[in-house]
Amino acid sequence: MHSLNELPADKDAAYAELAQSLRALLDGEHDLVANAANTAALLFWSLRDLNWAGFYLVEAERGDLLLGPFQGKPACVRIPAGRGVCGTAAARRETVVVPDVHAFPGHIACDSASNSEIVVPIVRDGRLLGVLDLDSPVHSRFDAADARGLEALVRIFVESLGS
Ligand code: SME
Repeated sequence: MHSLNELPADKDAAYAELAQSLRALLDGEHDLVANAANTAALLFWSLRDLNWAGFYLVEAERGDLLLGPFQGKPACVRIPAGRGVCGTAAARRETVVVPDVHAFPGHIACDSASNSEIVVPIVRDGRLLGVLDLDSPVHSRFDAADARGLEALVRIFVESLGS
């Protein structure tokens, strides 16, 4: 069983602890779905003020983003390339922080409770695998420290998949 610890208030310190937890959680397993599922669960149950945490994975055939392992309410299944916050982060291959999703042109509303969002692209050996998406009911929930911390966690996730 994996126990969840109370995280420090300082975001950099909190993400450093989460990085340790994630390494331990994914240790010895290379399966993408299993590791994405545990990564989503760790984030959803450790970070404050989230209503959704999960993955959209690139579908080889059309290049759409297809719903992957997540925690939260049922969500939009398929996001066409370049659409929404997820598609934007995927197309730019850059983390996108959205303080107010209602002000983001083309935002795809999956849960009406969401007010802010962060999406981190997942790239392995130069190939886009998908994105990690976190939603919050709190406006401006995510900042540069979250982007840094989540990008480090995504690197650990990618490393867990092996070569
Ligand atoms: N809001 C996202 C869609 C996914 S849900 O938030 C889970 C977007 O605009 O891409």
